Amino acid sequence: MCGIVGYIGKKDVKSVLLTGLKALEYRGYDSAGIALRNDEEIQIIKSVGRIKNLEEKLTKTKIIKATSGIAHTRWATHGKANETNAHPHQVGKITLVHNGIIENMDELKTRLIKKGYSFKTETDTEVVAALIDSYLNGDILKAIKKATNDITGSYALGIISETDKDHIYAIRKDSPLLLGLKADENFFASDLTALTDYTDKFIFLEEGEIAKLSSNQIVIYDSNLKPIKKEIKTIKLDEKDKGKQGYEHFMLKEIMEEPIVLEKTIKKYLENPDLLPDLSSYKQIHIVACGSAMYAGLIAKYLIEKYASIPCQAEVASEYRYKNNIYDRKTLVILISQSGETADTIAAMREAKKRGITTMAIVNVKTSTIAREADIPLFIEAGPEIAVATTKAYLLQVALISLIAFNLSKHNLKEPDKIIEDFKKVPRLVKEIIDKRENYQDIAKQIYQNENAFFIGRQIDYAICQEGSLKLKEVSYIHCEAKEAGELKHGTISLITKDMPVFGIITDENLRDKTLANIKEVESRGAKTFIITTDKLKTSENDITVKATSPFTETLEVVPILQLIAYETAKLRGCDIDKPKNLAKSVTVE
Ligand code: AGP
Repeated sequence: MCGIVGYIGKKDVKSVLLTGLKALEYRGYDSAGIALRNDEEIQIIKSVGRIKNLEEKLTKTKIIKATSGIAHTRWATHGKANETNAHPHQVGKITLVHNGIIENMDELKTRLIKKGYSFKTETDTEVVAALIDSYLNGDILKAIKKATNDITGSYALGIISETDKDHIYAIRKDSPLLLGLKADENFFASDLTALTDYTDKFIFLEEGEIAKLSSNQIVIYDSNLKPIKKEIKTIKLDEKDKGKQGYEHFMLKEIMEEPIVLEKTIKKYLENPDLLPDLSSYKQIHIVACGSAMYAGLIAKYLIEKYASIPCQAEVASEYRYKNNIYDRKTLVILISQSGETADTIAAMREAKKRGITTMAIVNVKTSTIAREADIPLFIEAGPEIAVATTKAYLLQVALISLIAFNLSKHNLKEPDKIIEDFKKVPRLVKEIIDKRENYQDIAKQIYQNENAFFIGRQIDYAICQEGSLKLKEVSYIHCEAKEAGELKHGTISLITKDMPVFGIITDENLRDKTLANIKEVESRGAKTFIITTDKLKTSENDITVKATSPFTETLEVVPILQLIAYETAKLRGCDIDKPKNLAKSVTVE
């Protein structure tokens, strides 16, 4: 949430910052701004809306010749998305950009007002700028340290001080920030995609560390302001992971990559079984995540309970972290997160660790906080996912958690080898499914003018419905609800009106007729129904079918259909598919 970039060096500072901001736009896109600095002055330019608005404004503005600068793309937390609230913020001698939330902003603001500061914006960030300025007594490092000691909350800060024209500064706590290194120039950014055009050498800042960057040196200080040595990592981005590669949207590109990344991930774990730890000693499992990642966990809950007979719960991290969780020594907590930076999931992980519980994480971004802090990190091989709506990463989360569920269940299953074969062939089946784009375009044509839709299913099919519903609502803005098919009659069915789309998912053989009966009930009340099922359970010629494989793999076949229906529908509705309104890819605030 919010993206920050900083640069010091001989290149055109404005261009470097804009390139970084464009790559980070998925993190927030309601306003943007940059601060350019040289020995004489600091120039701040901001604009509301997308980076392209800022870019346009910059072309119409007389720009100073800068030697360093900081930039920001915002997802508003405190105050409206207007130019005043856009970052960078400047108070006294301090100019800064911020990602995170300052929880004790009111208290700090009152204190600073008493000291004579006044505030122009509604943001918590301006308070941080004033706080650092209030401690500034020659030594900017000490001022940053003192100010951050006073702060409760999360922050990644990029700072320039008028007292030190040769450096830019960066510090983080509970919000991601990394440094990029190159001869005669240095960078910082919220994530490495902002810098991969310039460097492949990175340092990952830990909590509370402060980085002081000049064009030819980076010094990192620990929380006692003692200089420390940090490992420099070389990370190269694959060419195919850069840009849209000819696709109209990242979402479509990422769906089309599914067969390849699915094969890569499944192969990795099938060919190296030691990569999956033996979890048989755990007596209960808590799966904790947010949004789609939680729905991946919900699929596993049904598999683990049904086939491994281990009690398993899947919960949203924002609730889990504040609950009285009942653990015993045999509890395993599994976190699922594409970014590995989701604030609530991190908090839930830390809470479990504090209570002495083993944490395992399924993560895409290998350098992320969750990847670094979980006891057992496991990685999916999605590559960078840029569209705000997750597709390939979600599918791989489902694949890996289903493999884990399969491992736990193996001893109870009649033909485990057959299921392994299903895992091996599912990438090919997914390729066949996504190749039938015209089928999903046809469905999209039938639903895109509706404002409401339902997804119904039972057990594991209900878990799939949750993701189908989230995908459709987030990219097309059609209001959708996922409902347990059997629960409809207890109230929700009153909402069914003529021609309302209802998607029924049926992969569970034992529940086929039950769900079908519920589909018939809504049909009788005028709903336009779409049944997604297997060729084995097919109910009519109109059904959208996938190949019957095992319960551990059929979900992987159904999900791309729902993703493509959401995509095609959003396209017909003219939505901003890769950057839906009000959203951001990585939710790094609570
Ligand atoms: C769905 O498409 C989302 N973008 C969202 O629900 C996402 O899955 C959630 O915010 C969790 O993100 P994470 O996997 O990076 O933790």
